[in-house]
Amino acid sequence: NRRKVAVIVGSLRKDSINRQLARALERLGEDRLEFDYVEIGNLPLYNQDFDGDYPPECTAFKQQVRDADAVLFVTPEYNRSLPGVLKNAIDIGSRPYGDSAFAGLPAAVTGASPGAIGTALAQQHLRNVLSYLDMAVLPQPEAFIQFKEGLVADDGRITSPDTRDFLEDFVDRFVAWIDRQRGEA
Ligand code: FNR
Repeated sequence: NRRKVAVIVGSLRKDSINRQLARALERLGEDRLEFDYVEIGNLPLYNQDFDGDYPPECTAFKQQVRDADAVLFVTPEYNRSLPGVLKNAIDIGSRPYGDSAFAGLPAAVTGASPGAIGTALAQQHLRNVLSYLDMAVLPQPEAFIQFKEGLVADDGRITSPDTRDFLEDFVDRFVAWIDRQRGEA
């Protein structure tokens, strides 16, 4: 019985390295996790006027998150923080006040960058937001992935043995974390 994971990629780019990382994690966890990719590119810009009458695409987004056992965020770093498109999606999911889709769900955070710090600052900012939203975010391992060309093959296989071992451990710990938060371990 696989745990259902809502996967939110913080990049809208077709060839996104973060989407490639998400696919690689999907492959590593495929026996235990079912990935449900939640698309955020068609969401409107959040406006507090929505709160009285939430737009249907925003309600659908929230439902897709609620249908999952956990949420995985895979995000680029933009200007040393999380991309605006991801923050927008989180803001939409968190409202109207008292009706957040995120509250209480287990989560994990990772991300890839060509740069050496591998989205560390974006992830740190994201953790701040998610803890405010009462998500239980996997504390360790932190997974700051420096992405080199060819790291993930077309079929989602990770070509570097060290990175594969590291991300295998990340997936194992995420699975254990989901079960613990849900009281199943
Ligand atoms: C970047 N990039 C970047 N990288 C980084 O490590 N730290 C940063 O602060 C930034 N800032 C930044 C701002 C903006 C507006 C862009 C467009 C890019 C580079 C970024 O890591 C690179 O473009 C990745 O390929 C983005 O991830 P996806 O879209 O490939 O998943």
